[in-house]
Amino acid sequence: MTDQHRPLKNAFGRFATGIAIAACKKEAGDFAAITINSFTSVSLDPPMVLWCVEKRASTYPDFMAADSYSVSILCSEQQAFSERFARFSPKPLDPQEVEIWETGAPLLKQRLAGFDCKIAKRHEAGDHVIMVGEIIRFDSVDQSPLVYFASNYFAGLDDT
Ligand SMILES: Cc1cc2nc3c(=O)[nH]c(=O)nc-3n(C[C@H](O)[C@H](O)[C@H](O)COP(=O)(O)O)c2cc1C
Repeated sequence: MTDQHRPLKNAFGRFATGIAIAACKKEAGDFAAITINSFTSVSLDPPMVLWCVEKRASTYPDFMAADSYSVSILCSEQQAFSERFARFSPKPLDPQEVEIWETGAPLLKQRLAGFDCKIAKRHEAGDHVIMVGEIIRFDSVDQSPLVYFASNYFAGLDDT
């Protein structure tokens, strides 16, 4: 079956991005997580970010019910996390794999940067919802990023 959106996806895919895992605590107490590349920095004061969730994603109801989310930016050696959370019904995040900061949303223990966010606003945008978050806490380390371009992964900026 041909994908009618393939030409537009190809054009979108010419914008090289990093990859992140967005996650939240579900009402039942366990965690929802999804691979994203729609992450964008928004505001310094107050500090804000956004990402977009597809309405058809199985985790969509979890992110709509949550009042906070985390974003863990992936390092070059974390492609397996990206592949895992881009799949339907992935092995859920284990408490051993994450740490919890102020909001209760889980951050990956290994990450290039982490953002713990209170959801400030949701904007309807076609088949996605834009999730604007106010950053409660963040961190970052100097490491090589996982880069995504034209449906392929690259280990970026490795200066060894
Ligand atoms: C590199 C990459 C980036 C993605 N970025 C997003 C995104 O920003 N927002 C989104 O809703 N889905 C994004 N997806 C798709 C979701 O990860 C994927 O649809 C979802 O995890 C599949 O889960 P489901 O089948 O349970 O809905 C991306 C997938 C990949 C591989």
